[in-house]
Amino acid sequence: MHPLILHHPMLSLLLLLLLTPTSIWSRPTTGDLTTRSPTIPWPQFRKSVRTPTPTTDHDYDHHHCQRHDHDPNCGCGCDDHNPPPPPPPVDFQKRNFDTISNIYNLTVYPHQVPIILGGAAGVPPGLFSQSVVGRVDPVGDFRGFEDSIEYFFALAPLPQGNPLNAAITSYKITEFSSACSDVAASVVHLFCSVVNPGCPDDGTPLPPLKQVAFWKFDAKGDVLKYDAWIPNLNDWVVKTTGAPVFIPEGQLQSIQQICAVTQMRCHGPNQQWDSIDQCVETLAKKSYGNYDSAWGDNVVCRSIHLVLTQVRPDHHCPHVGPTGGGKCIEHDYGNDYFNDTSLYGDALGETFMCKK
Ligand SMILES: *[C@@H]1O[C@H](CO)[C@@H](O)[C@H](O)[C@H]1NC(C)=O
Ligand SMILES: *[C@@H]1O[C@H](CO)[C@@H](O)[C@H](O)[C@H]1NC(C)=O
Repeated sequence: MHPLILHHPMLSLLLLLLLTPTSIWSRPTTGDLTTRSPTIPWPQFRKSVRTPTPTTDHDYDHHHCQRHDHDPNCGCGCDDHNPPPPPPPVDFQKRNFDTISNIYNLTVYPHQVPIILGGAAGVPPGLFSQSVVGRVDPVGDFRGFEDSIEYFFALAPLPQGNPLNAAITSYKITEFSSACSDVAASVVHLFCSVVNPGCPDDGTPLPPLKQVAFWKFDAKGDVLKYDAWIPNLNDWVVKTTGAPVFIPEGQLQSIQQICAVTQMRCHGPNQQWDSIDQCVETLAKKSYGNYDSAWGDNVVCRSIHLVLTQVRPDHHCPHVGPTGGGKCIEHDYGNDYFNDTSLYGDALGETFMCKK
């Protein structure tokens, strides 16, 4: 393995897999990750939806009524004097904030590990609807639960897999608003630092990732749609890794590594290339791209989707292959990129608006 792969944060998981006994990393046969990974603390999630406490006060007129068992014709006037209190309103602002917070909390190392190991089975309930769809600029559109959770969690870097031992180590929601129960807007800072226990550099801060997002929730408070943006992702990659992938030699080396990993991960029915050489020759003719436009028929796009091939190779291998599998393909910027109608199934401008 060429050392440059170490500089590719999106490929960071690879090294971890290579260096770790397969028995630890084999796919689970059940969704019970807690028994498989006893050393990984499992986040405790609680939804904050409150169940209204039923009141019995209106069943009695405390001054002169017998119990009247909800008789609407009660003549005692007790209901007039002692009307049923309205059920306590769901504190949807807190509920929505907590859902968003719990989502980002799962990007913090090592909370994402059960999801990398077990895919969808590792995601606690109450975060994403099964039919969730969304967009993350500059990475792409994600349709369905598995696509979405893989983007949010399986791409979060593991410290064991990159030279700086970088990981997301904490987060803060810095801006938040939710004016109605089904829509919220947020900005999060995902703080990164070196995770290298026992070594002098442990805890050294690295540049944070920032994500701006609008969210739409279903009636239960699960995320149904999202529209998110990571500004300056390319700067973050360059600054965090110092990778020389934006000079030609560095690019060729990274292509060689991407191709080697692709051949290793995508085999049998998932095989994409006849050989590593064929892959290198083809990708070297494509645009390298950069992380601010990672959605395209380019190398950077394949480097991101390559990380996901370890979670669901059958689904993601085509994305890193010759055709791009409908993901790493050229997009018609003016149409596809802004087509909220096809992504969300709503009239343009309806999805993230509070209805009055
Ligand atoms: C994030 O998850 C961890 C692990 O379950 C938990 O201890 C912590 O309180 C959570 N943080 C927030 C802000 O929810
Ligand atoms: C958006 O996508 C839909 C369906 O895919 C298509 O019919 C429509 O023309 C597109 N709109 C724009 C503005 O490209």
